[in-house]
Amino acid sequence: MAFLELVSKRQSVRDYLEKPVEREKIERCLEAARLAPSACNSQPWKFIVVDDPNLKEAVARETFSSVISFNRFTLKAPAIIIIVSENRKLLPQIGGAIKDKPYHLIDVGIAAEHICLQAVEEGLGTCMVGWFNESPLKKLLGIPERKRIELLITIGYPSAEAIRKKNRIELPGIYSYNKYE
Ligand SMILES: Cc1cc2nc3c(=O)[nH]c(=O)nc-3n(C[C@H](O)[C@H](O)[C@H](O)COP(=O)(O)O)c2cc1C
Repeated sequence: MAFLELVSKRQSVRDYLEKPVEREKIERCLEAARLAPSACNSQPWKFIVVDDPNLKEAVARETFSSVISFNRFTLKAPAIIIIVSENRKLLPQIGGAIKDKPYHLIDVGIAAEHICLQAVEEGLGTCMVGWFNESPLKKLLGIPERKRIELLITIGYPSAEAIRKKNRIELPGIYSYNKYE
């Protein structure tokens, strides 16, 4: 697929078929994440694929409540990828502190998008989920309390084929040449 076509086809999918996702497809998405760039090549990530139905439901239930329910759709996703950040190299951590830049979050974001784009190639849909209860999730998944879960990604076969029109600021509104405008 041409790259811009791939990017255009990636959209947040919040309704899934009940069909399980083949692990080899998920592993190709993770391979795309593995190849992502990162500050000082620190690769500050670990991915936990939750595809056990009972565990997956427990994970999904930590992304919404009766009051804030917009993530209830996660219950329908056959699998959820949890991204944990890892302090693999000191240099980007020191650099990040000096420059007040959370490089590891930038890195994780790039890897997450690689996952979502490869998922499109696989005929799968994804949705990044940044709203979740971190501590209970760590307990559920055996993640040490000192670690951070940065993002979740739901993944599965979309229930609908249609690609929505993207709701985005038009191009002239987001760039300029040679100075800030
Ligand atoms: C860091 C991040 C966190 C997000 N968290 C959520 C979330 O908790 N729940 C949700 O439904 N969508 C979430 N999204 C999806 C965005 O709402 C979505 O990407 C945006 O509205 C653009 O729509 P599109 O992905 O369909 O192009 C998140 C996206 C990003 C990048």
